[in-house]
Amino acid sequence: MSVSQANLSSNPTTARSAAPLSLYLAGVGSVGTALLYQLSEFQGDAQRPRLIGACTSTHAAWTPPHPTPSAVKHHLEHGSTLHWPAVLERLIDRAPRPLVFVDATGHSDVADHYTTLLDAGIHVVTPSKLANARSQQHFDQLHTVAAAHNVQYRYETTVGAGLPVVRTVRDLRATGDGIHTIRGAVSGTLTFVFSRMRQDDSFGEAVQTAIKAGYTEPDVRDDLSGEDVARKFLILARTAGASIERDEIEVESLVPESLRDLPHLAFRRYIHTANDAWRARAEAAAENGDVLQYIGRWTPGSGIRVGIEAVPAESDFGRLEGQDNLFEVTTNRYVASPLVIRGPGAGPEVTAAGVLADVLATET
Ligand SMILES: NC(=O)c1ccc[n+]([C@@H]2O[C@H](COP(=O)([O-])OP(=O)(O)OC[C@H]3O[C@@H](n4cnc5c(N)ncnc54)[C@H](OP(=O)(O)O)[C@@H]3O)[C@@H](O)[C@H]2O)c1
Repeated sequence: MSVSQANLSSNPTTARSAAPLSLYLAGVGSVGTALLYQLSEFQGDAQRPRLIGACTSTHAAWTPPHPTPSAVKHHLEHGSTLHWPAVLERLIDRAPRPLVFVDATGHSDVADHYTTLLDAGIHVVTPSKLANARSQQHFDQLHTVAAAHNVQYRYETTVGAGLPVVRTVRDLRATGDGIHTIRGAVSGTLTFVFSRMRQDDSFGEAVQTAIKAGYTEPDVRDDLSGEDVARKFLILARTAGASIERDEIEVESLVPESLRDLPHLAFRRYIHTANDAWRARAEAAAENGDVLQYIGRWTPGSGIRVGIEAVPAESDFGRLEGQDNLFEVTTNRYVASPLVIRGPGAGPEVTAAGVLADVLATET
């Protein structure tokens, strides 16, 4: 692994331009709707970004009369059928600048457009991990194109939602600190599962409770596979300057080999077959005063490892509850005691607030 020379376009030095900031919103689901609420309640009208258009997977509409979710959704219902080439043509050739494109879709077709948008002098803000988790070459290209056109590519909410994690890593790098390790419990679902197991739920019961509470992806194996944690650590390591590909990451899956190819409902029916193995593992950890936690770790020179760790029961990681995220960053400056960031790492409101902060930061 080597340190990338990619120019991270993270250091906005230009003053806010006189023209108002325009915003295009792709995706009006949980995060998009929360962002519209926050935009419509924005205090300080002079700086309020002006919503020039929005789309869903089926519809597109321009110049909604108000940025409230109901007004935008009503406008979309009476808008045209979504046709991405037409949306891009209008954004690139006819939309006012400065302009921010917000991708709140989580769809890879939309992530495909980032380079084109940046190349046209449009800022891109995204809570989606998809583009950043592609190849290192693609990650570098996004930053290089943004820098070449003096616009920003911002993705704070891809890791830890509204928690200031990406920004912290960027600032440490920009100010010349040397990162020794980033360690984190970054999956709310997995933290929930392990905290239930500490309260004597079996593995199967803990997973079923997480599903019933609506904390998981439609197929819970997408959470249990560790893939989401791997992608978040890929983004953190790259932001810190590492050059690393997904297939270099060691990922421990919580899905037993024998259940990986079953249909989802059958997987749920047989998940209890893993209970005994989990109980034995938790008991072995308990003999040393430890508990199990799902943790990602990046160390320059050693790469990324994502999997289960036995951690002291009385440590911050051992006591992590609910769906919280916890990050510990050890650096040249934060060496005796790490820099710690902790809090809810998902949820539409906190994610939308982080997206809005990224939008506003494009022009400061
Ligand atoms: N929810 C969270 O707490 C959270 C936290 C951190 C990051 N994120 C990230 O934020 C992004 C959005 O998440 P979400 O929870 O808001 O998703 P969501 O509720 O499923 O909403 C997705 C929206 O995108 C639209 N969409 C999907 N594909 C599209 C396409 N090809 N073109 C245009 N629009 C398209 C959908 O349209 P329809 O309405 O027509 O279906 C919908 O309006 C994801 O990348 C997610 O990983 C979410």
